[in-house]
Amino acid sequence: MKIGILSFISAGKRAEYEEIRLKKEAQALGHTARIFRANTCQLVYDRHHPSVLYDGQHFPHYDVMIPRVRLLKDIELRTAVVKQLQLMKVPMFNRYSSICRAKNKLRTLQILDHEDIPIPKTLVVHGPEYVDDAVKKVGGLPVILKSTAGSYGAGVVIAESKRAVHSALDALIASSWNNLILIQEYVKEARGSDTRVFVVSGKVIGAMRRQAKRGEFRSNMELGGDAVAVSPSSEMTDIALQATKALNLQVAGVDIIQTKRGPAVMEVNANPGFKGLEEATGFNIAREIIQSAVVYAKRQKAKREK
Ligand SMILES: Nc1ncnc2c1ncn2[C@@H]1O[C@H](COP(=O)(O)OP(=O)(O)OP(=O)(O)O)[C@@H](O)[C@H]1O
Ligand SMILES: [Mg+2]
Repeated sequence: MKIGILSFISAGKRAEYEEIRLKKEAQALGHTARIFRANTCQLVYDRHHPSVLYDGQHFPHYDVMIPRVRLLKDIELRTAVVKQLQLMKVPMFNRYSSICRAKNKLRTLQILDHEDIPIPKTLVVHGPEYVDDAVKKVGGLPVILKSTAGSYGAGVVIAESKRAVHSALDALIASSWNNLILIQEYVKEARGSDTRVFVVSGKVIGAMRRQAKRGEFRSNMELGGDAVAVSPSSEMTDIALQATKALNLQVAGVDIIQTKRGPAVMEVNANPGFKGLEEATGFNIAREIIQSAVVYAKRQKAKREK
């Protein structure tokens, strides 16, 4: 099979660990594999024949594409190439609308809450007017403030006083492309730990418990957090699968925090890293993704030929 990895890292820059691993595992399984750079694509709108030019040439036929959307801004715009490939009937192992939903924490929490999937208490504010009331409604100080898009813990702030809340709010509004900020209960009982559950094609293929370093509340490994492999509880497994299904993702990294009311989903990552997970578990996550993408491509093909 011909398997493409769609990278959003600028051409000329080294591909990320995950992209290289996916390519290697696909080749090891006997497939043709190639990393394509999204910003080398030109979208062609031609009424009945939407197409993509890659470096000026027609985009070659590939049986399935795995988008690795490593973007923090202009998500909808810059991932339009994913939609265009979809319109060209190329199976995308994570689809455009699901990626956009997952990249937007406000939209993600709205969908999860609507599907009755547990999330931390959260209010969305447009500015300073209602923030004091929002803090009260999520249970008082300390609180967590988040911009709607962010990764690696950037855009996630803890505020332990009223003036910290207001100054953090101003800073987040100034640095984000919209003035929508999430005010979220601080899950103190989690003591800086959470669980990243990795889901592929409706199956949990690995999980790791992350612990923030001393003095830090965010467990992200990019911020010095540690990770150990764990077998998630059936409750955690259920909500990870429900959350991934609610966002209609094929590949997802679900971040779950243990609250006194039970596990709650903080966010669902459509471009989850798996370096830490492969190291923590010893599992070949890249191979699992490739094998599932092949099954997905065959199923999409059968559907088209029906
Ligand atoms: N409500 C909360 N209470 C306590 N800790 C929290 C809360 N929200 C986030 N955290 C901590 O901050 C970390 C980062 O938060 P979150 O996952 O929302 O942001 P992120 O930057 O998008 O992360 P990622 O890199 O996974 O995309 C979490 O892994 C968790 O350790
Ligand atoms: Mg996270």
